[in-house]
Amino acid sequence: MTDTPPPYRPPVITGARIRLRPYRPDDLAAFFALHSDPEAMRYWSHPPWTRIEQAHSKFDSSLNGNAPDSQLCWAIAALDDGRMIGGVTLFRISAEQGVAEFGYMLERGSWGRGFAREAGVLALDHAFGDLGLRRIEADIDPRNLASCRLAERLGFVREGLLRERWQVAGEISDTAFYGLLASDWTQRDADTPTPEKTLLRQTVGDS
Ligand SMILES: CC(C)(COP(=O)(O)OP(=O)(O)OC[C@H]1O[C@@H](n2cnc3c(N)ncnc32)[C@H](O)[C@@H]1OP(=O)(O)O)[C@@H](O)C(=O)NCCC(=O)NCCS
Repeated sequence: MTDTPPPYRPPVITGARIRLRPYRPDDLAAFFALHSDPEAMRYWSHPPWTRIEQAHSKFDSSLNGNAPDSQLCWAIAALDDGRMIGGVTLFRISAEQGVAEFGYMLERGSWGRGFAREAGVLALDHAFGDLGLRRIEADIDPRNLASCRLAERLGFVREGLLRERWQVAGEISDTAFYGLLASDWTQRDADTPTPEKTLLRQTVGDS
């Protein structure tokens, strides 16, 4: 009989004000709270959850379904107490193609303080550095001004508009399609070294 190996854990990546860390079982309540907030879910790809059972499958995937060649799901955590305040994900990672998709979400009480930008820098540095990816994509509702602005501040380029791409709870919406290349990132690095990157430390394991 062979032992099943433990699930792969994304690395802990520590910035100046927040940390990316693997999800922990005790994040379930915060994960559900995030995905049940109608304002935070306004432009998401599914309606807000209303029952905790709806969180189980996605939470299990975020906790146990990670691998550098498929998806990496990090909790965004406060530096002082490790409390989960959001999440950032690289998903549909294709090592063969060198591409992945990118998603992020913060609890409402943490908006507008630059935490999402810092989380984005840490995750993208990992994507282009350690994973060696060439291109990261983001699918954003063009009405989601905070997300469009965040993506553009991270260096993403709006490459096109996919009309009527989504239907969520009966509402049809477009996709603003964004792309960021490793070469853009290297250039951005050279142009604007950010304080969070000079303080970056990366460790392996939980925090
Ligand atoms: C998208 C999200 C993570 C941004 O979080 P945030 O805390 O506002 O992000 P930051 O503080 O890092 O700000 C990013 C930029 O967006 C700008 N911004 C924030 N809210 C904005 C708004 N409503 N309209 C226009 N710009 C806005 C900020 O000023 C900042 O730009 P700046 O650096 O030029 O000042 C947050 O709004 C969120 O979790 N939304 C719900 C989930 C979601 O929609 N995720 C994205 C799905 S594609």
